[in-house]
Amino acid sequence: MSKQKLAVLTGATGGLGRVFAHRLLQDGWRLLLVARDRSVLQTMVTQFGPEHQAIAVDLSDDKAPAQIAHQAAMMGGASLLVNNAGINRMVAFAEMAQDELTQMLQVNLASPACLTHALLNQLESNRGTVVNIGSALGAIGFPYQSAYCASKFGLRGFSEALAREFSGKVAVKYLAPRAADTAINDESIRQLNQKLGNQMDCPQVVADEFMALLKSKAMRKGVGYPEKFFARLNGLLPELVDGNIIKQCATIRAHFAAQCAKFSSSS
Ligand SMILES: NC(=O)c1ccc[n+]([C@@H]2O[C@H](COP(=O)([O-])OP(=O)(O)OC[C@H]3O[C@@H](n4cnc5c(N)ncnc54)[C@H](OP(=O)(O)O)[C@@H]3O)[C@@H](O)[C@H]2O)c1
Repeated sequence: MSKQKLAVLTGATGGLGRVFAHRLLQDGWRLLLVARDRSVLQTMVTQFGPEHQAIAVDLSDDKAPAQIAHQAAMMGGASLLVNNAGINRMVAFAEMAQDELTQMLQVNLASPACLTHALLNQLESNRGTVVNIGSALGAIGFPYQSAYCASKFGLRGFSEALAREFSGKVAVKYLAPRAADTAINDESIRQLNQKLGNQMDCPQVVADEFMALLKSKAMRKGVGYPEKFFARLNGLLPELVDGNIIKQCATIRAHFAAQCAKFSSSS
C-alpha cells in the first residue's frame, strides 16, 4: 500500500474540482476522484497515474456515501475529504420545480454530510481533514438563489458545528468562494454578474485559497473583497445589507425578462 495520503475529492470533473485535483496531486496526495461522468474521470486517472482511482456515482443516490467509503477503505483509508460537488441555477423561487429544489439540497448539503459520516472512522484514525466548499452565498441571502443559499448556509453551519465537535480529532474547514469562472455559471449568469458588478475569479485563484486553507490551522476562509466584508456585515447587521440587495432585484428581473423575450423571438 502506498505511503502517500489519500484525498477523496467530489466534483472532481468540474471547473474548480479539476484545478483542486491538480494542486493536490502536486502536493503529493493520492486521489480518489468522484463525479458522475465516467469517461472524464477515466481520462483524469489515466493522466494522473495508476495509484489514483475514480468512482462514478450520483451523489443524490443514498448508496453513494457507502460506495465511496468502501473504495477509499480499499485504497488504505482517507486522510482528506473535499466536499466540492455542487449545483446551482439562478431562478425565481416560484418557478423552481420541487424536484430541482430537493435535488439541490441533496447534492449541496445532505450528500456532503452523509459522505463525511460514512468516512468518519477513516478520517478519525488518520487524524484527517474535511474541506467543505461553500460559497459567499452561504453567508448572504441572495434573491433568485434561495435554495442554493439554503444549501450553502446549511453547509456552513454543518462545518462549524462539526469542527467544534471534532476539534483535535478531525479538522473541519469551510471555504467560501465568490463567483468563479466555471460551467456552473452559464452565459446568462455571466452577463448578469457583469450588470450587478459581481467579480468572477478564475479557478486558479480559488485553488490558491483552497490550498492555503488546507495547510493552515484556520477553520474558515472567504475569497475576495468586497464579498468577505459583506458576508461579515450581513452576519452582524443584516438590516444594513437588505436595502442594497433588494434594489438589485429590479436588475435581476429585467435581465430574466430580456432573456425570456430573446428566447421567444428566436423560437
Ligand atoms: N463557480 C462558482 O461561481 C462558485 C462560487 C462559489 C461556490 N462554488 C461551489 O464550488 C463547487 C464546485 O463548483 P464548480 O464551479 O466547479 O461547478 P461545475 O464546474 O459545474 O462542477 C460541478 C461538479 O459537481 C459534480 N456533480 C454535480 N452534480 C453531481 C451529482 N449529482 N453527483 C455527483 N457529482 C455531481 C459535477 O460532475 P458530473 O457532472 O460529472 O457529475 C462536477 O464535477 C460547488 O460546490 C459550488 O457550489 C462555485
